[in-house]
Order: sequence, then C-alpha cells, then structure tokens
Amino acid sequence: MLKTNFHNFPKGKPFSMILGDFLGRGIFNVDGEPWSFQKNMATLELGKHSIRCYAFDIINSELKTRLIPLLSSLSEKQVLDLQEVFRRVSFDIICWLSFGIDPRCLELSLPMSDFSRAFDIASRLSAERAMNVSPLEWKIKRALNLGSEKELKRAIEIINLLAKEVIRKRRKMRYSTGDDLLSRFMSTVNDETYLRDIIISFLLAGRDTVASGLTSLFWLLGKHPNVVSAVKREADRVIGENKDLTSYDQIKELHYLQATVYESMRLYPPIQFDSKFCRNDDRLPDGCLLKMGTRVTYHPYAMGRMEEIWGSDCLEFKPERWLKHDGVFFPESPFKYPVFQGGFRVCLGKEMALLELKMVALSLLRRFQIKLVTTNNRQPQFSPGLTATFNSGLPVLVWQLNHKISCQ
Ligand code: HEM
Repeated sequence: MLKTNFHNFPKGKPFSMILGDFLGRGIFNVDGEPWSFQKNMATLELGKHSIRCYAFDIINSELKTRLIPLLSSLSEKQVLDLQEVFRRVSFDIICWLSFGIDPRCLELSLPMSDFSRAFDIASRLSAERAMNVSPLEWKIKRALNLGSEKELKRAIEIINLLAKEVIRKRRKMRYSTGDDLLSRFMSTVNDETYLRDIIISFLLAGRDTVASGLTSLFWLLGKHPNVVSAVKREADRVIGENKDLTSYDQIKELHYLQATVYESMRLYPPIQFDSKFCRNDDRLPDGCLLKMGTRVTYHPYAMGRMEEIWGSDCLEFKPERWLKHDGVFFPESPFKYPVFQGGFRVCLGKEMALLELKMVALSLLRRFQIKLVTTNNRQPQFSPGLTATFNSGLPVLVWQLNHKISCQ
C-alpha cells in the first residue's frame, strides 16, 4: 500500500473533503501533481546538510533564550503543563525554520497566541468531522453555519489572516534572499491561497507531531528514572560533564538517546493511524481482497504493541531493544516501525524532528529534575485530533539540578 502499489492507494476524496477547509491543497491533503510538486520542493530544502545545521542553531537559541530560562524561573511548587510548553517550543521552531519568522510563542510571559488556539480548534474540529455517521451531517451544519462548523469557520478565518501576514512579512523581507522553505515556494508560486495551504500543512507537520513526541517521551521518562540516568551518563561520556552540545554532528554519536526517542514513539506514535483509499480492486500480500473505494488503515500505535512484531516484551519501554551489542543504534524497517510512514510519502521532516526531540530532551534532562504530577497511574487518555494529544496535558514539577552546564 505504501510502496509496491503506492499509486493505487491515494489519500482519497473522503479525507481531502474532511480536511479541505483547514488544509486546502497543502501537501498533507493532496495526491498527484500538487503532491509531487510540494514534495520535490520540500525535499530539496529539508534534505540539505546546511538546513540541519541551521535547525541546530534555531533549536539551540529557543532552548537557551526561552525554554531553559522559563523552567529556571519556576518555583518548586509551581505546576507546569509540559505539553503546552512543548507545543509553543515546536511552534516557534517550525515557524522560524519554515518561514524565517519568529512568533515568540514561548516568551516568558507566556501569551497564548490567537493563532495557536485557532490552529488547535481547526485541527480538532476537522478530525471530529470524520466521526460523523455520514458526511452529510457536517456538510449541512457547514451550509447553515451552525455549532462546531461555525466554530471551525471562525478558527480558519483567524488562521488565514495570520498566514496572509506571514506571506506579507516574508515579501517585505525580500524572500528571494531567504534560506527558508517559504521563500523557496514563494519564488515559484504566485497564488496566495496555495501558499497559505502550503504554510498550514508545514505548521501542522512540524508543530503538533514534535510536541506530541516530546510529551510522551517525558511521560515515559518520568516513569523510568533508570533511562534518564543512562541518557545522562552517555551525554557526559560523549559531550563531557558540564559541557553542552556544540554541533549537529555531535548529536549523532548519542546512540542511547536516539534509541530512547525511537522507543518512546514506538509506544506512543504522534500520528497514531493513517488511512488511504483503494483506487482500483486490489489484493494485499496476505491474500485479502480489497474492493475499489475501500478505506485501508495502517496503525502504528497498534503495531507498536503487537507481540508478533516486537516480541513478548512489546509493552515495556526498553531503549536497549534498538541497540546492537556494541551499543550502536540499529534502525528497523519503516514498514515494521511506520511512525514516520514509509515508502513514497515517508515524512520529509524526520531528521529535523529527531534532532529537535533529542536536543530538547537532552538539555532538560541534564539541567532539571522533572517529576510527573499524576493523580493516578493510568495510561494517558488522548483527545480526538490529527495528532496524539494527552487530554489532561502533562503536569509536572521542575527542580534545577545543582551542577551547571555552560550555555554557549
Ligand atoms: C516526531 C515528529 C514527526 C512525526 C512522527 C511525523 C510523522 C509523519 C507521518 C506519519 C507522515 C505521513 C502522513 C500522511 O501521509 O498522512 C508525515 C509526513 C510529512 N511530514 Fe512528518 N512527522 C514529524 C515531524 C515532521 C517535521 C518536523 C516536519 C517538517 C519540518 C515534517 C514534515 C512532513 C511532511 C512535509 C510530510 C508530507 C510528506 C508527503 O506527503 O510526501 N514532519 N510525517
């Protein structure tokens, strides 16, 4: 479905209709020519080594000037919702990286931007359309501008205003000299609505997924202090005690950290499932017959918990399962671990996402002790949406550790 007979499994009309008002013709919501155009442009930009080094600097700056000062300023009894903080961090980073613009979502005063809120509402309500028994339900509500459809329309209006503003600012800053993704698109695309759609898909790709990955990572780390100690030991050995990361290349040597991030997303993939529609009758390798128009879903959340795939300890959080005997990280096939999907539509921001997850995790774990504030020991509950979101956030208490790592 994702590789051998990829062309027979497009995203399909039912989903592009559900997400159409929010995502328009952005990469997440299209097939065929508009998809390959956006993919080619994004691959050119995101595949460059230079953009990874640029991303390293942006993430470093967000950590040093905002996230670390924010956590350092908390009193010992102040409960912080880490999920909300991670959403702001990843929003700042993806905006800077994709559009060359800094929205300053994580300023110390923590203003909740209208845009960020509108983005959450649009993502949630668009996903909820899929839960209607018949699409007629939401279509009638949309035509009459009622209830959730009215709310969705208002949220999309706010998003459109901001997207316009981003494009206007970028034009003013002479986009042709910019090194970001938007500048690349703006040099070829004149249609303002199409540019808006491209912006929204990249924001969705880069914000909620990374924030979700970080939230579940810290939830699991809060329950596995032995893993936290091992991550810190490796960092002290590779980077040096009380020393900070200095380059993109250095982080590649942290194999245990990489294993920890992969293991966390095996159990809690940010995109829990993904569907395609069968264009023509087909037969899966196991003999299962698919009629034209059938919805086919692969489910990384379920796959990560299957004994047949991961063995009898599949429910345990064990970064070691990703390491060979010499402690070197060993990646699995993307079809066994489809957290970033596999085949032709594999995630284009995978390396960027891993870099962000690892840098945030490392800088927080080496400076702070983070304690979960939970009232019970239950598994996290998720809100409906396009990416996995803990419905009660991730409340934590934060203490500074005694030793200091120099901020370069
Ligand atoms: C932990 C973080 C992330 C995860 C788990 C993730 C996962 C995924 C998945 C499962 C898809 C396939 C979606 C589909 O076709 O329906 C995808 C696509 C994509 N991702 Fe990511 N992603 C992450 C972060 C990022 C970041 C940071 C960026 C941008 C810098 C990004 C850019 C994209 C793009 C452009 C696509 C569309 C690819 C296409 O349709 O050809 N992702 N991602």
